[in-house]
Parts: sequence; structure tokens; C-alpha cells
Amino acid sequence: MDRDIEKILFTEDQLKTRIAELGEMLMKDYADKDPVFVGVLKGVVVFYADMVRAFHAPCQMDFMWISSYEGTESTGKMLVRKDVSADLTGRHVVILEDIFDTGRSLDFTYHHLLGKGAASVKICTLLDKPDGRDPSITLKADYVGFEIPKAFVVGFGLDYNEHYRNLPYVGVLKPEIYQK
Ligand code: IMP
Ligand code: MG
Repeated sequence: MDRDIEKILFTEDQLKTRIAELGEMLMKDYADKDPVFVGVLKGVVVFYADMVRAFHAPCQMDFMWISSYEGTESTGKMLVRKDVSADLTGRHVVILEDIFDTGRSLDFTYHHLLGKGAASVKICTLLDKPDGRDPSITLKADYVGFEIPKAFVVGFGLDYNEHYRNLPYVGVLKPEIYQK
């Protein structure tokens, strides 16, 4: 796997340090709020496991699984494959995501969760790729691990064709891998 990586963007140590900092920020804002951390599957799983352990106060864990709708029109419509199971009425929700790219998944997830009566919904993403953003999306992330340039990255939960998720770092995939 490692030989398919062109460049390591963030090492295990850098990720660990940054996640600890994000944990401190979330502690400042949520330590007394019993937040619900909603992870967006599957890319978030590695970040999620570290992030909740960097939050040292009561919280609840929940997950959503969405995918873009495979229809004839490429409207970026989203399909809910698995919804949250908690009752979010009056709850403070923090969405955890691996990467904020076009923003379509987060925009959908954000409005979907607000629609369930949450008292607040904030976004915490490990990576933000602002150059990839769909110009119609104005949503902003509240907590960002790292901003990255417009490259295709894998590892630490992120995949290419369902592989590389188990790499312990975030790296840029060699272009020849896509071109195969
Ligand atoms: P969106 O484009 O912001 O809706 O992001 C949708 C999903 O695309 C993310 O949750 C990731 O799973 C995936 N994605 C976007 N950019 C990358 C990347 O560079 N590597 C791997 N997956 C990505
Ligand atoms: Mg994702």
C-alpha cells in the first residue's frame, strides 16, 4: 500500500497532536452539554475513534451512512443508507466527518439533522479541501483539523475504491493508481 503513496501529508504524530487540540476545543464548547457525536460513515471511523477519546466528558455516539443517489440525473442528491438512532430533539449535535470537499454530503447531513429538532448542529472535519467546494454551498465547518490543497488523499479512514482506509497516515495517492 505504502508504495502507492506519492507523498505523506500528515503523519500519525501530526494527526494525534491535532486531534488532541480539536478535543480541547470541543471540551471548551461542549463539556457540559452531553453532545451527540454523529459520524458520517465510512470514511470517518478512524478519526471518530480518536476524536471521541479526545473528548473527556459525557457524550453520546451515533452514525449516519449516506451516499450520492445513483440516478440518471447527476443532481448530487443524497440517499440515507443508515439514519441516526438517537432522538436528537433538543440535543447538541456535532457532525464528525473525514473530509469537506464539494460540501454536498455535509450540507445534506447538516440539514437532515437540524430537521430532527436538534438544539444545535456543528461540524468538525478532519480535512477541509476549500478548492473543491461546490460554489452553491455556503456551509462552513466549525472545527477543522487541516486545510488541504485539491489533491486526492487516502488513509486514516479515507479510501480509493474502498482501499487504503487502514493506512495510519494521510497521503496523496500516486496519479498512476487512478489511471490504471
Ligand atoms: P463531499 O464532496 O464534500 O460531499 O465529500 C463526499 C465524500 O467524498 C467524503 O466524505 C469522502 O468520503 C469523499 N472524498 C472527497 N475527497 C476525497 C479524497 O481526497 N479522498 C478520499 N475521499 C474523498
Ligand atoms: Mg465521508
